[in-house]
Amino acid sequence: LTKKDFIYEGKAKRLYTTEDPKYVIVEYKDSFTAFNGQKKATMSGKGVLNNNISSKLFKILADGGVESHFVKQLDDTHQLVKRVKIVPLEVIIRNITTGSLCKRLGVAEGIKLPRPLFELSYKDDALGDPFIIEDHALLFGWATKEELDKIKEISFRVNEILRDYFAKKSVVLVDFKLEFGKDADGNLMLADEISPDTCRFWDSSTGDHLDKDRFRKDLGDVLGAYEEIWKRISE
Ligand code: C5P
Repeated sequence: LTKKDFIYEGKAKRLYTTEDPKYVIVEYKDSFTAFNGQKKATMSGKGVLNNNISSKLFKILADGGVESHFVKQLDDTHQLVKRVKIVPLEVIIRNITTGSLCKRLGVAEGIKLPRPLFELSYKDDALGDPFIIEDHALLFGWATKEELDKIKEISFRVNEILRDYFAKKSVVLVDFKLEFGKDADGNLMLADEISPDTCRFWDSSTGDHLDKDRFRKDLGDVLGAYEEIWKRISE
């Protein structure tokens, strides 16, 4: 299948149709955005790294029995994926406290939670992806109870697989964001990407941030951190 018509441009990716309506091609861009698009930058090579990392992680998850939209990596910056309609929810799983959780609740940074925390946001840029509870998703029809139960089960499974996988690479999986989609037959599956843009990775021994927090907080050597993650998972 090959790239046909442009469909949509997001903050980090572009989507194109293919000859088959069941599949689309994702192009990973070199752009960085943070704080709901208020902070922006372009760094050459970022799209390749995120495509490589995300492709590898979707494969690891498939090996662990987690279905996703990922079909295959086509080249440096492109993936073939199943066409899905994105459920307008962002799932966040946290193993360690940091980020918006600490800002919102005033809890200390860096606390290891006794079990993973499952959070939901409503995916809406204009509203800044507000934090919601399950009842909002149910009552406003963003997902059914069955879908939410499945989303939760898959999200915890993703956490188990990736946490163990990264632990072996001397990386702590602090937290991450997942998105889900439904194909034309209504099958729910993991979608979007899994990369240092959407996860927090801390080096197990030094505590160094190996993710987009380097960009958000101006910590420097942003691409170096992404390269380090790719180096550890590709060897
Ligand atoms: O900012 P916050 O602490 O809520 O982020 C939690 C996790 O979700 C982080 O790994 C962050 O990179 C990811 N995230 C994301 N997209 C968003 C919000 C958060 O990938 N819109």
